[in-house]
Amino acid sequence: MSDSDSIKKPSSDATGLRKGLTSYGDSGFSLFLRKAFIKGAGYTDTALDRPVIGIANTGSAYNPCHGNAPQLVEAVKRGVMLAGGLPMDFPTISIHESFAHPTSMYLRNLMSMDTEELIRAQPMDAVVLIGGCDKTVPAQLMGAASANIPAIQLITGSMLTGSHRSERVGACTDCRRYWGKFRADEIDEQEIADVNNQLVASVGTCSVMGTASTMACIAEALGMTVPGGASPPAVTADRIRIAEQTGAQAVQMARDRLTIDKILTPEAFENAMRVLLSIGGSTNGIVHLTAIAGRMGLEVDLKALDRMGRDTPVLLDLKPSGQHYMEDFHHAGGMSTLLRELKPLLNLNAMTVTGRTLGEELERAGPGFAQDVVRPMSNPIYPQGGIAVLEGNLAPGGAIIKQSAANPELMEHEGRAVVFENAADLATRIDADDLDVTADDILVLKNIGPKGAPGMPEAGYIPIPLKLARAGVKDIVRISDGRMSGTAFGTIVLHVTPESAIGGPLAYVQNGDRIRLSVSKREISLLVSAEELAERARRNPVTPPTADRGYRKLFLDTVTQADKGVDFDFLRAPVNTGTTPRG
Ligand code: FES
Repeated sequence: MSDSDSIKKPSSDATGLRKGLTSYGDSGFSLFLRKAFIKGAGYTDTALDRPVIGIANTGSAYNPCHGNAPQLVEAVKRGVMLAGGLPMDFPTISIHESFAHPTSMYLRNLMSMDTEELIRAQPMDAVVLIGGCDKTVPAQLMGAASANIPAIQLITGSMLTGSHRSERVGACTDCRRYWGKFRADEIDEQEIADVNNQLVASVGTCSVMGTASTMACIAEALGMTVPGGASPPAVTADRIRIAEQTGAQAVQMARDRLTIDKILTPEAFENAMRVLLSIGGSTNGIVHLTAIAGRMGLEVDLKALDRMGRDTPVLLDLKPSGQHYMEDFHHAGGMSTLLRELKPLLNLNAMTVTGRTLGEELERAGPGFAQDVVRPMSNPIYPQGGIAVLEGNLAPGGAIIKQSAANPELMEHEGRAVVFENAADLATRIDADDLDVTADDILVLKNIGPKGAPGMPEAGYIPIPLKLARAGVKDIVRISDGRMSGTAFGTIVLHVTPESAIGGPLAYVQNGDRIRLSVSKREISLLVSAEELAERARRNPVTPPTADRGYRKLFLDTVTQADKGVDFDFLRAPVNTGTTPRG
């Protein structure tokens, strides 16, 4: 194409560099100017005439979980060019769990807005989303869902495991286990420092079935990655090959106009929920799936999800529910091994980024082989799905518990509430010698919900009070409106909705109240009369938190509760088109 052809007035269904022109009032001039500037970087017209593939580059010195981003970007570019496209990488916000204050969740929606708006603003026919650490994959899927162009997820991949005195260790189930030992005086300062060097043995995401691994598996189950895209560790050749394939596939998606709405269907969300339940996935997976579904106009029906859980066993033997790590899952065949087992429960006609259905991809993956990481349906790790949905007067909008990581002896339990008003109160008193607490009590932590902290921190894994830990207590029932890391374990009720900071019943729990947890009946009840609770609310009404300016104001004014995915209300699709899972 000649220079004069290539700067003709673009049409409304423009592609490539002609898409989304800057508004100067003269579209021909806008394209002329755009090409003049990009040519300053040495591009030729031949290059600029190819399908443009955006690459959301989330490499950041603050994000070691994305530490392989430079190699991934290079491999994606190679794949794009081999397939005849023009790769254009661009930076977006990157969020790491341990480097985000007050929480990474506080910034997830900001990253989703950044991703959506940069996809919309810049010319691209398809986008490759490079994500891995807990909030990045959901943020990218939320943003891409709203932008609705062809989009494909590239996972950064898990870290390698380390070794401490001959014991295999990995972040972050072992982080918590060793920290618990240190708190209980079972190991000394030298040993905890030694462990600190071994827990994260390479760049990449946490090596257990935490939120990052959960979201990687969910992304593949949704059909948003190339087959096998969830499991290769970050530093392997397999991961780099997946990146190259992803780049090439993005070009094909651009040519086929395979937009994300053709992939993120109700059937795909059902497949993702099956997978979430069967991998003993992070409870955060529910919040994120709810937010992504909300961008597509779908409500998540928590009761239907719970029913789905009753006939979806946990098959994946990974920590914290089991014993292995992500690299073992990869060696065992990764997601195709799991999906093969789940086949009777899946919607095999769901479309994937390859343009083939999940069922067709499973056929192409070939037969399975002997391995011990994914169990058969006849011999599960846990007979039901990893997550149960609870209801009762303490959580009218629902709460959840990761039953596969809970203590069976505590799942039917009534006890006395020991209440902490907020995270600061907890920090001040949890280790006090005079804390009035026994192993039969129930720890209640308020004000760590979406608005409460704000940002719904992963503080739901309330530490065992020091005096109990030193006495050998390993678990105690804990309840909060916050979240918990997917790497944690214990009998822990989370996401109590509505949260205490907006006046949910949790706000009015007092020391000494009786609380009943029955996972078998899916019940979480505060054994206090409605009249008494109304009286407490009248005496001490709750004032929801506010802010004067900036992102904090936007957050506090518009963030929704856990049952809506903690998304901003104005980012959800304007029209509700149905519920998921169905039935
Ligand atoms: Fe990034 Fe765990 S901290 S995945």
